[in-house]
Amino acid sequence: MHNLGLEPVTDISSLNLRAYSNARVVSEYGKAAGLQPPEMEILSRLQSEFSGRRILDIGVGGGRTTPFLIEISRNYLGIDYSPEMIEQCRSRYPGVDLRTFDVRDLSQLGEGTFDLVLFSYNGIDYIEHEDRIRVLADVRHVLSAGGAFVFSSHNRAASVRSAWSPDHLPLRTNPFRELRSFAHQLVRYTRGIRNASVNRRHERQAETYELRNDEGEHYSLVTYYIHIEHQMCQLADAGFRDCRAVALDGRLLEPRDYANTRDPWIHYLCRR
Ligand SMILES: C[S@@+](CC[C@H](N)C(=O)[O-])C[C@H]1O[C@@H](n2cnc3c(N)ncnc32)[C@H](O)[C@@H]1O
Repeated sequence: MHNLGLEPVTDISSLNLRAYSNARVVSEYGKAAGLQPPEMEILSRLQSEFSGRRILDIGVGGGRTTPFLIEISRNYLGIDYSPEMIEQCRSRYPGVDLRTFDVRDLSQLGEGTFDLVLFSYNGIDYIEHEDRIRVLADVRHVLSAGGAFVFSSHNRAASVRSAWSPDHLPLRTNPFRELRSFAHQLVRYTRGIRNASVNRRHERQAETYELRNDEGEHYSLVTYYIHIEHQMCQLADAGFRDCRAVALDGRLLEPRDYANTRDPWIHYLCRR
């Protein structure tokens, strides 16, 4: 990946789309496989309830979640705003309904058209705050009564490393014995700094959320971070009920755990 984020963009969705259209990034997502422990925990609980029902997989990427969801139901639609991701996913799962579609246009779909909606691996964190609030309301709108929404989002209580951190330098690699690895790490370090120098101007701290230019795709992404407590408020404001937060090890979190959970991202399950 070269030159990501070097020209001005108007909003973080457009900036992040550059990364999610990049050939190397798309190819990596095309190889991603397996569910994360909290996804396994949540989806295995929902499996029998949603068997054969209508599933929407938002931000499907290279299709990591597709085989698990089509196992629950063939009545499945995967969407992504990156046409390159959709192409990659189609080549992996021919015959599956996969479409290029921006989640910010979800209101075009009718009320109650899906029973289970997934927005996995923090995909919701790559849109602006105002869009996120609208998307949460729209997801609720497209869900049937009692339908479930599962997603994950970056945790504001977690720390992020700066692109300039010496952690990224190949300090433990001997350049005489491992020249290739040393050079590779050095290239990644300079690429991270170059991307961060341009993209960190999009960082923002608000009362209830933060936009951070984190390590994702060598600092080419701008990512939304939120405290669990504030995410729960957003979900309640959008009209969701029975909202639960799940830690990265698959453990259900209680409200008393919210403030001291430092996991980099948190999974959420809620109902219309
Ligand atoms: C971190 S990747 C996760 C991909 C896949 N779900 C996985 O778990 O491997 C986030 C995905 O969300 C997609 N995405 C981001 N913003 C989107 C939007 N506004 N509409 C649809 N998809 C979006 C990106 O293109 C990317 O494929």
